[in-house]
Amino acid sequence: MLDIRSLRKVYSKKSVDEKIALDNINLQVRKGEFVTVIGSNGSGKSTLFNCITGVEQPDEGQIVLGTADITKLAEHKRAKYIGRVFQDPLRGTAFNMTVEENLSLALARGQIRGLGQGIRKRDITMFRERLSLLDLDLENRLKVKMRLLSGGQRQAITLLMATIVKPELLLLDEHTAALDPSTASKVMKLTASIVNRDQISTIMITHNIKDALEYGTRTLMLSSGNLVLDLKGEDRKRTTVEQLLVKFGYHYC
Ligand SMILES: Nc1ncnc2c1ncn2[C@@H]1O[C@H](COP(=O)(O)OP(=O)(O)O)[C@@H](O)[C@H]1O
Ligand SMILES: [Mg+2]
Repeated sequence: MLDIRSLRKVYSKKSVDEKIALDNINLQVRKGEFVTVIGSNGSGKSTLFNCITGVEQPDEGQIVLGTADITKLAEHKRAKYIGRVFQDPLRGTAFNMTVEENLSLALARGQIRGLGQGIRKRDITMFRERLSLLDLDLENRLKVKMRLLSGGQRQAITLLMATIVKPELLLLDEHTAALDPSTASKVMKLTASIVNRDQISTIMITHNIKDALEYGTRTLMLSSGNLVLDLKGEDRKRTTVEQLLVKFGYHYC
C-alpha cells in the first residue's frame, strides 16, 4: 500500500550544518496496517512524514502510495489521499470557523463542493452522530467557533476531520503529546476505535512507548535517520516497555 524505497533526506547539504535526517529508509506498510513509530528527538520521524506528505522533497528514493509514485507529486495533490494530525491542536483546524464549518470543509476534501453551497441537513445529522461518539460533549456545539474549545476537543475534531473522508493513509505526529494525560488517553482510544472501525492504514509517531506497544500491530524505531527496529507478531506481543527502554533507552537520554 505504502512503499518507501531507499529514502534519503539531507538538510543544509554541503554546509557545516549538513544533517542527514533520513539515511536510507525502506518501509512497506500494508493496507489497513496500524504502525507505531518511536525514536528520540531529531531521529527523523517528522521528516519522514514531511517527505510522505510532500512538505519536503527527498534527495533520493521513491514513495509509492497504492499504485501511484507520489515522490514528486505536489503537496496539495497528495492531501486528498493523506490525512495528517499534528501535535499542536491549533494546527489542524480553521480557528475562527465553527465546528460544523470545519467538518464541512473536511467532508468537501477532494470534491468540488465547498462551503459556498451551504451545509446540508444530512451532513449536520452525520456530524452530530460522529461528534457524540467522541464523548466530549460536542454534539450540541456545532455552531461554536473552534477557538473556544479546549485542546483535547480540538484535537478530537481534527482527528474526525482527517478521517471523515477515509484517507488512503493517516499520519499522526505525536497527536496526543500536548494534551493532559486523561484527555490524551481519551483521544488515543478514540484514534484506535476510528482506525480499527474504518480499517485505515495508519502511521502514528508517539513518544509514549506504552502506547506504541499497546496500539496498532507493528512498532518501528527510528534512530539517526535509520529504522533500527521493526517489531510485529509474537515478538511484539512478548515485548515489554521495560525491555524496549533497556534495549534502546540510551536513545532517549
Ligand atoms: N527544515 C529543516 N532544516 C534543517 N534541519 C532540519 C529541518 N527539519 C529537521 N531538521 C533536522 O533533521 C533532523 C530530524 O528532524 P525531525 O525529523 O524533526 O526529528 P523528529 O521528528 O524525530 O524529532 C534533526 O536533526 C533536525 O534538526
Ligand atoms: Mg517530530
